[in-house]
Amino acid sequence: MTASDHPLDHCWYAVATAVAITDQPYPVEICDVSYVIWRGSDGALIAARDRCTHREAKLSLGTITHGCLRCPYHGWVFGDDGRCVAVPSSGDSATIAPTAHLDTLQVAEQYGLIWFSPGEPTQPIPSLDVESDSTFTRLNTNMEIWDCSVTRMIDNMLDVAHFPYTHAGTFGREQEQAVPNFSLEQLDDTFFGYKYSVVVNNEGEAKAMSGGGDDVIGLDMSTGFALPYSVRSTMSYDNGIEQTLFMTASPMSAERSYFTFVLWRNDDVSTTGQQIVDFEREVAREDREMLEQLSGELSLKRGTLVDVQSDKASLEWRRRYSAMVDTAI
Ligand code: FES
Ligand SMILES: [Fe+2]
Repeated sequence: MTASDHPLDHCWYAVATAVAITDQPYPVEICDVSYVIWRGSDGALIAARDRCTHREAKLSLGTITHGCLRCPYHGWVFGDDGRCVAVPSSGDSATIAPTAHLDTLQVAEQYGLIWFSPGEPTQPIPSLDVESDSTFTRLNTNMEIWDCSVTRMIDNMLDVAHFPYTHAGTFGREQEQAVPNFSLEQLDDTFFGYKYSVVVNNEGEAKAMSGGGDDVIGLDMSTGFALPYSVRSTMSYDNGIEQTLFMTASPMSAERSYFTFVLWRNDDVSTTGQQIVDFEREVAREDREMLEQLSGELSLKRGTLVDVQSDKASLEWRRRYSAMVDTAI
């Protein structure tokens, strides 16, 4: 199997926030390969290997003028569709060889994020109904880089049992240790997971999330995954407030990953939006602190790790993910 035949080369990965791609070339790394993304003359996204066709200089170190990317080494210029439009050393009249053009790759903008696929994607970007629901407002945060395996991140996102411990500093409650024996189901066309009710701390900053109420409240949630590395959690409070939290991770290398989340809420977030994003960032920081202590990838081999009832969703993700990465394209 060549690198481009690997199933993971045919997935969409969130690699940046849309606002981060401005007037500079943006370097991206997926599965140890470097890519560059920039906006062309009409603002359309262009993605290619971060390697000049001339002497392999890193194009992400170049500069952009009117949507054209200039290589920092000998100044070749690449325009829309990755076409090489200037070779300064050859003068104006010289013909440019077709091999000088860059092979462009799949890139798209969705949910305020830049999605990239090294090969032809075999599945769509995860579909989130709330994006087109006018009663919901979207909140984005920045793209982070975590020093841990993407597989450990998904396992963590699907896990409720760590709430009372890892998240003791935010919403976790020491009293809520037992995880109900939920059953797994197809939550919608995209996400597979489980529905459950939790009791969480609702003190201080948490009140921005819940819209107020007692210091301890109950809420209905669902958590589900979309292969390979996205998880959606929905929360609905008794007062009618609903929130969708979409978390997604992408593998830069075996132990380095992109991470970001997107929130949608059906309440007025004009004054509380930043506070809510900051609260979720703090929750993510608690996870990150734990996960960055764990080295290597999560074992996908059955029986290597001890799994209990609350690991059911993670087990199912591992089963489906293993089947996916073992399938030759
Ligand atoms: S390496 Fe890019 S122009 Fe020479
Ligand atoms: Fe967590």
